[in-house]
Amino acid sequence: MTDATAFAHSLTRTAAAVNAMLDSLLPPVKEAEGRVVDAMRYAALDGGKRLRPFLVCASAELFNVPGVQALRAAAALEMIHCYSLVHDDLPAMDDDDLRRGRPTVHKAYDEATAILAGDGLLTMAFEVLADPATHPDGAIRAALVTELAKASGAAGMVGGQMIDLQAPKLSLDEAGLVRLQSLKTGALIACACRFGAVLAGASEQAKAHLWDYGQKIGLAFQIADDVLDVESSAQVTGKATGKDAVAGKATFVSRLGLEGAKTQARALVEQAIEHVEIFGVAADPLRAAAAFVIRRQA
Ligand code: FPP
Ligand code: MG
Repeated sequence: MTDATAFAHSLTRTAAAVNAMLDSLLPPVKEAEGRVVDAMRYAALDGGKRLRPFLVCASAELFNVPGVQALRAAAALEMIHCYSLVHDDLPAMDDDDLRRGRPTVHKAYDEATAILAGDGLLTMAFEVLADPATHPDGAIRAALVTELAKASGAAGMVGGQMIDLQAPKLSLDEAGLVRLQSLKTGALIACACRFGAVLAGASEQAKAHLWDYGQKIGLAFQIADDVLDVESSAQVTGKATGKDAVAGKATFVSRLGLEGAKTQARALVEQAIEHVEIFGVAADPLRAAAAFVIRRQA
């Protein structure tokens, strides 16, 4: 079996486990408010590569964290990711009709329901982390809540999205683009990579290496996204492509050229891998994930 095939198998295994966890955390509701729960389930189940949950589980395995703790933390973080996609697709933001190969939530339901479904996923993520089933130690649960809030709030993903919405008139240079993407995409991915160390109460040094690894693969992931936006199609990626150029947004491809962007992504993967050297062979799944982010087709 090649490394790529072995990685694909373990990504599929983690996806199945996190899907089951999300399904159990989001049971359907019969009353009238059940419509928002249906929309939350539509947004969070049946789709997505589950890369962030994989990163949570792989970092948790470095420290022998119990599987159920890792899966609950992974499901919470994935809820944030799914909420961000629902809101990003709204007419007020990217105005997209297609996500994960299906109609976006506001198309399948309506705009108000999509806003509420995003709100519901965002708040439930913190409910899951704060539950003693996620970790018996209240200080660890508080650390998980704080880390996820910082990574997804105005100093992280929300801040990056705010810059992105203004990007057409900012004409960002490469450093500006790196900052935008480190906030918008990198912070949540880096948080996923740290979560295993946070669950384990590991050293600051271990947490810092995992954050740096996550930031590097997050940037490589975004560069790969920019490349796919130019080279791929909606049929393959399950979402609209070619939109960045139309919106007049600077991307790594527009700034570095296609080949320059690919070279930069490969360099970032190498740098990411150096950050997990200290964990030895136990970090092989993280090495495989780093290679995957620039190989992926969707
Ligand atoms: C695709 O992830 C998603 C990204 C590259 C991140 C984009 C960031 C946002 C949309 C932030 C929006 C923020 C707010 C606050 C609205 P993926 O390829 O892992 O998607 P998948 O889960 O479908 O596989
Ligand atoms: Mg979008």
